[in-house]
Amino acid sequence: MSLPLLDELAALRQAALDGFKAAPDAATLDRARTSFLGTQGRFTALLKQLGTLPKEARPEAGKAINAAKTELEAALETRRRELELLAATPTEPTDFTLPGRRRSLGRLHPLTLVTEDIVRSFRKLGFAVADGPEIEDEYHCFDALNTPADHPARDTQDTFYLDTPNRQLLRTHTSSVQIRVMARQTPPVRIIVPGRVYRRDNADATHNPTFHQVEGLYVDRGVTVADLKGTVEFVFRDLMGPETRIRFRPHYFSYTEPSFEIDFSSALTRKMGREWLEIAGCGMVHPQVFENVGYDPEVWTGWAFGFGIERIAMIRYAIHDIRMFYQNDIRFLRQF
Ligand code: DAH
Repeated sequence: MSLPLLDELAALRQAALDGFKAAPDAATLDRARTSFLGTQGRFTALLKQLGTLPKEARPEAGKAINAAKTELEAALETRRRELELLAATPTEPTDFTLPGRRRSLGRLHPLTLVTEDIVRSFRKLGFAVADGPEIEDEYHCFDALNTPADHPARDTQDTFYLDTPNRQLLRTHTSSVQIRVMARQTPPVRIIVPGRVYRRDNADATHNPTFHQVEGLYVDRGVTVADLKGTVEFVFRDLMGPETRIRFRPHYFSYTEPSFEIDFSSALTRKMGREWLEIAGCGMVHPQVFENVGYDPEVWTGWAFGFGIERIAMIRYAIHDIRMFYQNDIRFLRQF
């Protein structure tokens, strides 16, 4: 059936589509919408003419008008979205080399977070960060620390030795850096040494062939165990909460005398089902160690400690398997 109304509809539809597409901004688009689809609009006027058609022509014309209306509304929406996007697009070229305003790409590894917190606590007390090589020699790792040649820690079962003529090894603890720092610096010394260490352990829930430690060393005149205890207590309260308690138990290390193991207790240890958890080794620097680095043990006293960063992170975040730190599972890492 050929109806003048349908021709009119076709022309109107095209005009509306062109009008929407050409609208340069939201306001123009809205005006176009009103002029075609508004209550006084041209399209609405057409719809009103439907009643003037012969009865048998109405269904077909009605269908055509409705189809056009749906199409126009969709075109309107498409253009509205396009304009929105356009409005949000910068007109100036973007300089991608400018520094970012927020750190939203990725996040820090839990071990990095804990290390940074430890360093921050010690900085408050005037400690500086020192470091040393992960590939060490026997002298700095053992001999200078008063560790005898037959000590089990030196065994090839426990230590990774390199296949080099001078028996280099991967350091088994950060204590080697104590020696390196004292050998090049006169007292007072106040350092902490966060770093990676290596032991010939098989990986299980609590062991890994490589892990991280923080070493601390304080040397001056008249340094006592009380200084050591006060420092450890301050740092652990800062790290683990103000109600954290510390306890020293006698122990043996060849490079300190007396030596202690440090236990701590807090809401976190109770959450793990224990009142006290062993957290670190420490003691007063052995006079022989001072002799080895050329410090006079009659003048200088000092304390040292060492603890594992993974262990602290595991307690803090209630992680039960040390291997999670190294697997790079994004579901794990995203939680920090
Ligand atoms: N080096 C020891 C370890 O790896 C920890 C340690 C104990 C460090 C006593 C010290 C110390 O400085 O005085 O288990």
